[in-house]
Amino acid sequence: MYNLIRKILFCFDPERSHKIALNFLKFKTHFRKNFISSGKDLCKPVKCMGLDFKNVLGLAAGLDKNGVYIDILSMLGFGFIEIGTVTPQPQYGNDIPRLFRVTPANAFINRMGFNNHGIEKVVSNLKKTVFKGVIGVNIGKNKNTPIKKGILDYIYCMKKIYHLSSYIVINISSPNTNKLRELQYGKLFEEILLGIKHTQEKLRILHKKYVPIAIKIAPDLSKQELIHITSNLIKYDIDAVIATNTTTDFSLITGLKNSSEIGGLSGRPLQYKSTNIIKKLSKELKNKISIIGVGGIDSLISAREKINAGAHLLQIYSSLIYKGPKIVKKIIKYL
Ligand SMILES: Cc1cc2nc3c(=O)[nH]c(=O)nc-3n(C[C@H](O)[C@H](O)[C@H](O)COP(=O)(O)O)c2cc1C
Repeated sequence: MYNLIRKILFCFDPERSHKIALNFLKFKTHFRKNFISSGKDLCKPVKCMGLDFKNVLGLAAGLDKNGVYIDILSMLGFGFIEIGTVTPQPQYGNDIPRLFRVTPANAFINRMGFNNHGIEKVVSNLKKTVFKGVIGVNIGKNKNTPIKKGILDYIYCMKKIYHLSSYIVINISSPNTNKLRELQYGKLFEEILLGIKHTQEKLRILHKKYVPIAIKIAPDLSKQELIHITSNLIKYDIDAVIATNTTTDFSLITGLKNSSEIGGLSGRPLQYKSTNIIKKLSKELKNKISIIGVGGIDSLISAREKINAGAHLLQIYSSLIYKGPKIVKKIIKYL
């Protein structure tokens, strides 16, 4: 069934087809019944970051940037949903076209550039959400905010969504916002962690609620850079690390259609690279900090590889589009 739907969806440009698919899920209850798995199979509770997850597999950031589809996406069986990336002010993102399929590799290249409706709108969407499970909110900085003032955007968003989030993700690894990845290195990284931790503590007291913080990192980091990251994650008592965002290494898709587009690569070609990062993180972090593994998970085997590498939770995005919603059940049921 999904093969047919995919054929139709792939006739449209990718960005439009993602929107059509989401609206299709939202409005066509008949199809919903076919897609939605029985809750029992998918209930394999895990505890992580002090939170109770229905199961280990979540939806990665980027599909529901504004938190409009949380209720319907949760019905696909995900153990948690991450929305965003959301920035303080609404922004259009990069010019369209900005999302490309690399179909033979089950991959996407995107240069969306944090297109979103802004944090105020996301706050009002979250208030309307019925879903009672774990919701992560992934936050970023606006394009026009200078990189050295980026911390102010993260703090602004944290203050707005703290009480409505189960956990908050600090996205410093998108390749599509100029210089954003510089926040992963040296003094800038430490300043971010310090500012975030300080804000978390103030908000914890204000709201009488502890909301864990996760840092989302790139797959394109050297061993030395990773060691600097892990030692500071421990030093600043960060709750989790999400590994990884998309890659700028296109060597595995050379010669394929769209491989010369600029952006970040997701899907199968990212699988090995992100698993390798998780292995290295796990070795350095020694279970002191949770690892959320994401990048190219498209089967039970690739999900197991991430868990064996040291991931405590998993997320998917690209394979949901290439393989359809049933991938969620397939992975969770046998994991
Ligand atoms: C179209 C698209 C948009 C994305 N937008 C975001 C985003 O806004 N914030 C973010 O942290 N990651 C974003 N990502 C990255 C995903 O969350 C994920 O880290 C990456 O795609 C690897 O997972 P996958 O191989 O399962 O797709 C996006 C990915 C895609 C394909």
